[in-house]
Amino acid sequence: MLEQLQSIPADPILGLSAAFKKDTNPNKIDLGVGVYKDESGSTPIMRAVKLATERIQQTETSKTYLPQAGVAEFNTATLELLFGADSALIKDGLVGSVQAPGGCGALRIGAEVINRSQPGTRVWLSNPSWPNHYPLLEGADLKVHEYPYYDHANHAIDFDAMMRALAETGPGDVVLVHGCCHNPSGADLSLEQWQALTDLALQRGFTPFVDAAYQGLAHGLEEDARGWRAMAERVPEMLIASSCSKNFGLYRERAGAIVFLTRDSEQTQIACSQAMNAARQIYSMPPSHGGAIVGTIINDPALKAQWLTELDEMRERINGMRDALVDRLDAAGHTGFQFIRTENGMFSFLGISEQQVQKLRDDYAVYIVDSTRMNIAGLTSSNIDYFADSLIKVLEG
Ligand SMILES: Cc1ncc(COP(=O)(O)O)c(C=O)c1O
Repeated sequence: MLEQLQSIPADPILGLSAAFKKDTNPNKIDLGVGVYKDESGSTPIMRAVKLATERIQQTETSKTYLPQAGVAEFNTATLELLFGADSALIKDGLVGSVQAPGGCGALRIGAEVINRSQPGTRVWLSNPSWPNHYPLLEGADLKVHEYPYYDHANHAIDFDAMMRALAETGPGDVVLVHGCCHNPSGADLSLEQWQALTDLALQRGFTPFVDAAYQGLAHGLEEDARGWRAMAERVPEMLIASSCSKNFGLYRERAGAIVFLTRDSEQTQIACSQAMNAARQIYSMPPSHGGAIVGTIINDPALKAQWLTELDEMRERINGMRDALVDRLDAAGHTGFQFIRTENGMFSFLGISEQQVQKLRDDYAVYIVDSTRMNIAGLTSSNIDYFADSLIKVLEG
């Protein structure tokens, strides 16, 4: 039977990593893969995570299965991070969280629950969006449609076009919105735009599905939540896929959660029970370690303070690199890159041509994705001059 299978080509970004590894140029820079890197170019384990891990190792007494919803403290922590510790939505039981294997697991379980409620639901994705949204949502039989989002010519969100397209939605449609640090563009909705989108959700009746994979990496933990919190105050129902891969650096531990908001606590519990049942059909229950780490950190004031400091450092480092790059380009007379300063998180489109992307790779061993998405977090004070010089030469070549 298995001999009938065809091999599937590697994900292009993973292919880029493989090419990078093989490259022997001592100046090579990998700005492809979407993980945070520190000043030394490595993806560190946060100190708060190390400390929480030690504590868990000392106190953990069993490796028996977790309950279906996962680590209880993790689910509580997730709701507090998303909605704020004093949120009335939490107090009233209107929001519920089920742990999932990373943001991917959360997106997929959310999609499974939507499809159980209404098979073949249309889900609207921003154009462009994170490529993995398509298989995650289509794999649960949702029908993906796209709404215009990033205008490459203007290096900005085309909000009017987005709203025009979403005015075609109706009750029973789902609209996926990136919570902050839009991947791949780095261009985020303003609070006013979140409010306008919420007005439209109320008018048209669609259900928002927020992908919160970068909370804390745009402007700050609380600031980044403003948009979806404002929306959650007003819409009758909403889903959020939360990921701790980036803001806790827990990538391989697969820590995430699918969160449901309804206006009736029993209904919220029903949605959670469907999520647990959907997970039972795929992997039964989530892994413990990442959730236990997040639960331990958020429930300990000293560890939480430590984590917040480190999260701030990460964000400030990325934003510092954004400014440093644009300063260098400005100084060389290439003043058209100001959008990189104001975009958020790890990614921005450089907006150069395909040939220029290829030239960066072939002549300078600088690796960015073909779409021109670059991971700003791959820049450090040791490689930024080389990167800026290479880019300038390519722009002028
Ligand atoms: C937009 C977006 N959503 C969700 C995820 C899911 O992350 P994970 O499954 O690693 O938690 C990512 C990771 O890159 C992402 O960029």
